[in-house]
Amino acid sequence: MKALVLAGGSGTRLRPITHTSAKQLVPVANKPVLFYGLEAIAAAGIRELGLVVGDTHAEIESAVGDGSAFGLQVTYLRQEAPLGLAHGVLIAREFLGDEDFVMYLGDNFVVGGINDLVDRFARERPAAQIMLTRVGDPRQFGVAELDASGRVVGLEEKPAQPKSDLALVGVYLFSPAVHEAVAELKPSGRGELEITDAIQWLIEAGLRVESSVISGYWKDTGNVTDMLEVNRLVLESVEPSVRGHVDDASELVGRVVVAEGAVVERSRIVGPVIIGHGARIRESYVGPFTSIGADCAVTGSEIEYSIVLPRASIAGVGRIESSLIGHDVEVTPAPNTPRAHRLVLGDHSKVQISS
Ligand code: G1P
Repeated sequence: MKALVLAGGSGTRLRPITHTSAKQLVPVANKPVLFYGLEAIAAAGIRELGLVVGDTHAEIESAVGDGSAFGLQVTYLRQEAPLGLAHGVLIAREFLGDEDFVMYLGDNFVVGGINDLVDRFARERPAAQIMLTRVGDPRQFGVAELDASGRVVGLEEKPAQPKSDLALVGVYLFSPAVHEAVAELKPSGRGELEITDAIQWLIEAGLRVESSVISGYWKDTGNVTDMLEVNRLVLESVEPSVRGHVDDASELVGRVVVAEGAVVERSRIVGPVIIGHGARIRESYVGPFTSIGADCAVTGSEIEYSIVLPRASIAGVGRIESSLIGHDVEVTPAPNTPRAHRLVLGDHSKVQISS
């Protein structure tokens, strides 16, 4: 079995955090979301991986390299324009040959890996196997309709009136039968070749499409609450380790990772917390479910249940909670007088000010 990971995408729906980088590289517990997918694929015993890349190819290639760090052999496949997920399969036709494959969307996060799915597919050999999850707003996803016995009877891409709350998770298993379906597709209303339509084609051709419903799923829909929640979930199971320097006046409680080159001085860190490479925490409190990115500086401040991306600095502010702070952001106290807020905020930023 081979793997096909899609990390192209037009970027038109990028949210604050992804304005300046590929959405597949959004960090969860200080690690790009894409890496969790690559690790899950490797853990399922798959070695050959086709990585479909688009405009952000340079950034993705520099993060993933030849894949050897993951135990994978990566072949880059360039998608010249974001013409859809099924278009990704089309351009990977030669790479995939006549093997079964798992298709994994690089911006999806699935808790618990894919070993069970891959095993089930190998045992049952349907034409396709999909994963579904219950979501609050199915209109942002492909949506499945099941019959009373749980069989998939129909799929629709981003329907205005969803027939269920079961969204298609971006991990699919295919037999080579999918190539025939993909070759028959016409572009959808949004001008893309939809993988959802290809699976619908398989169903209509009378081929077997299996599904399973999972929990523990996330993708970057620009929703900060969800992102903090997935960060929490992953931090709950990190292995504590201290590679950086923690001085005697500091206290670490619970699951805390202090990466190499990080410095903690006169501070209290209550895990689960991860402090990235080269970050400096001084005279501060860092509370549960917080990821501090590489080369950040937190000084004289308190922060909890938050994500801070690389190189941000937070100095001399009271308590920060439930926050997502982007790359290179500077958070400082306002001078006391005059009493006004001075803000420099990127597009789509959300700010809550108490005054
Ligand atoms: C794609 C699929 C959709 C699926 C989603 C999961 O949507 O078209 O069916 O539910 O991935 O991430 P897109 O990311 O193209 O909006």
